[in-house]
Amino acid sequence: MNKYEFNSRRRELMDMIGKGSIAILPTAPQRIRNRDALYPYRADSDFYYLTGFPEPEAVAVLIPERTQGEYLLFCRERNPEKETWDGRRAGLEGACEVYGADDAFPITDLDDILPGLLENCQRIYYPMGVYADFDSQVVGWINQLRERSRAGVHAPSALVSLDHLLHDMRLYKSDAELDLMRRAAEISVNAHKRAMQTCRAGMYEYQLEAEILYEFNRGGSRSPAYASIVGGGENGCILHYVENNCVLKDGDLVLIDAGAEFEHYAADITRTFPVNGRFSPAQKQVYEIVLAAQAAAIATICPNTHWNEPHEAAVRVLTAGLRDIGLLSGNLESLISEESYKRFYMHRTGHWLGMDVHDVGDYKIEAEWRLLEPGMVMTVEPGLYIPASQDIDSCWWNIGIRIEDDVLVTAEGCEVLTAAMPKTVADIEQLMAGE
Ligand code: GLY
Ligand code: MN
Ligand code: MN
Repeated sequence: MNKYEFNSRRRELMDMIGKGSIAILPTAPQRIRNRDALYPYRADSDFYYLTGFPEPEAVAVLIPERTQGEYLLFCRERNPEKETWDGRRAGLEGACEVYGADDAFPITDLDDILPGLLENCQRIYYPMGVYADFDSQVVGWINQLRERSRAGVHAPSALVSLDHLLHDMRLYKSDAELDLMRRAAEISVNAHKRAMQTCRAGMYEYQLEAEILYEFNRGGSRSPAYASIVGGGENGCILHYVENNCVLKDGDLVLIDAGAEFEHYAADITRTFPVNGRFSPAQKQVYEIVLAAQAAAIATICPNTHWNEPHEAAVRVLTAGLRDIGLLSGNLESLISEESYKRFYMHRTGHWLGMDVHDVGDYKIEAEWRLLEPGMVMTVEPGLYIPASQDIDSCWWNIGIRIEDDVLVTAEGCEVLTAAMPKTVADIEQLMAGE
């Protein structure tokens, strides 16, 4: 992503909040995994979206029309000794020269400098309630100004959540963002293909996960966008199964939900396939229902469709399919309106996708579902999960299937960013047979 894009995002936000406002954004803290071991560092998405600055311990400040500079970055100073231990830092100079800040200050001076910047501002925009320490820091700065009220200092009178403005910007992806999302999708497709090609009965789920992670890293992704789900047999019916520690059995399906993060953008793909490379008749029947539901959902996606239409389309096909195979009985409209399908389909059909796998952006505008517009990216991920149960014919037991693709809304309709990933029964069986 080039630095002009970050600059134009800051400009757009500053134009929206206007003179008299200040926006303050901290990045995410480093998190301890255990004792001296840290989790791999990942910047806060909102912060990174506006700055492109990848280091921890940083706060961005935007003050529209401030003559001495509108964009200030607080960050770590250069320190040769610390850098020898913990890695390179941009320092104050890098913050300005590489990351485009008008001025940069040591993060250790934040409490000294920030109250002065708040003087004469009427409104503070910040990510309210995201980082508890930061929330109390903001209140502390305001109280410092209030204590000086008899000296004529005005504390800002409004605290405003940044979410609404910033998250609406993030919902519409630019061409540069879509380039990165296409790369994340391509890497993820290669990983899922590799998993299909290497899967054998007797492997552990984590060994299949290793094939996915290998391909992510090899392709230039430095991290999965979320914990990969590799669930064989009944584990495929656990929606957020991440233990991935069971043996894959001949005759079972395996469900893999895994997506690469590429330069802070996520892909999110699910495929379900037979461990031994051939779908059984029952598996195939259920698979075809889910596949048809996904096709029906994707077919609704175009500008001016409302957010819930793909879900409604998927639910209709899934419910009809469940009735066709005898897992539900009764009138189709009643089964839908009474939500009888929820026993086998208990989640929604998608979510926004972007820097965060469950990306930001409102799904409703006041009481109405949002209308889709070009540039929005969403997942389409219907599924059916059939547990072992006395009232269900055992031929369906432990069939858990989800099929998930990433879809961009375009002016003409939509584009499936993950279309290169096989998903018909024939294409999957062919790939697994090495043909
Ligand atoms: N992988 C998370 C989801 O599909 O929503
Ligand atoms: Mn998803
Ligand atoms: Mn997923």
